[in-house]
Amino acid sequence: MHAASAFTLSGRDLLGIEGLIASEITGLLDLAEEFVELNRQIEKKRTTLRGRTQINLFFEASTRTQSSFEIAGKRLGADVMNMSVGSSSVKKGETLIDTAITLNAMHPDILVVRHHASGAVALLARKVDCCVVNAGDGAHEHPTQALLDALTIRRNKGRIAGLTVAICGDVLHSRVARSNIILLHTLGAKVRVVAPSTLLPAGIESLGVEVFRTMEEGLKGADIVMMLRLQRERMAGSFIPSVKEYFHYFGLDEAKLRHAAPDALVMHPGPMNRGVEIDSAVADGPRSLIREQVEMGVAVRMAVLDTLARKLPNA
Ligand code: NCD
Repeated sequence: MHAASAFTLSGRDLLGIEGLIASEITGLLDLAEEFVELNRQIEKKRTTLRGRTQINLFFEASTRTQSSFEIAGKRLGADVMNMSVGSSSVKKGETLIDTAITLNAMHPDILVVRHHASGAVALLARKVDCCVVNAGDGAHEHPTQALLDALTIRRNKGRIAGLTVAICGDVLHSRVARSNIILLHTLGAKVRVVAPSTLLPAGIESLGVEVFRTMEEGLKGADIVMMLRLQRERMAGSFIPSVKEYFHYFGLDEAKLRHAAPDALVMHPGPMNRGVEIDSAVADGPRSLIREQVEMGVAVRMAVLDTLARKLPNA
């Protein structure tokens, strides 16, 4: 790890893709490539984070993101502690800050935080002395997801610049979409969003995306089709007439995928709702990168933890 080990990020924390410059993103992706190789070996351990304490503080349910951060921290030699806080018992604002101050007194080195409110992770970061990684805040950002998606795309297509990526489905509630839009633009891809009007945030065009309201038009010639989960737990009221109708118009099946480029690849951040936003035949088919995304997730999170640790005191 010679070339990549001199690389650092300009900030102490990773709160979002917004604010990162292209060389910071590619630096993380290049380092992650080394961890992909390491993770395929029998001996996967490094000592970069030896003596460091990493706390995963999750105010919202998560399986793959939390386990991925846990494995990443452990492979780098950190002591990793998981704290899952039932969101129902959390009183916003004061409790969040109290929790941060309490944890801070235990001298963690890295806090990985997921919270259901946009901006909560940045707020918490201001109250602690350690570095903070955003593992998803409300509908705002999920930077490590966008990085793992970019790594998956780059490994399969050889580049990101110039590709057309169609992000489809529940864009309104999606931090994955927001982080991906910012990252893909920074690296020179063209981004489209495809969704019914009720699932598009107002002013989405200001992010520089092309907006489509049918899969047929939106997928035309796309190199990457990125499906999003229909986030029914975030929906107060009815955003879609019925799940059956949603699948009919916006669910990705073989027939709709034929509108994309002949060598188009399919992604989904998980967890998937099979038969809602994606058909099983596509999710498990030869064009699917979904399992590879999970593999890349561990490598990207190792790259993020390793890079942030380089700026910790006494590093
Ligand atoms: C995403 C999330 O939590 O934002 N999942 C994930 O991190 N793997 C997407 C989602 O929940 O739909």
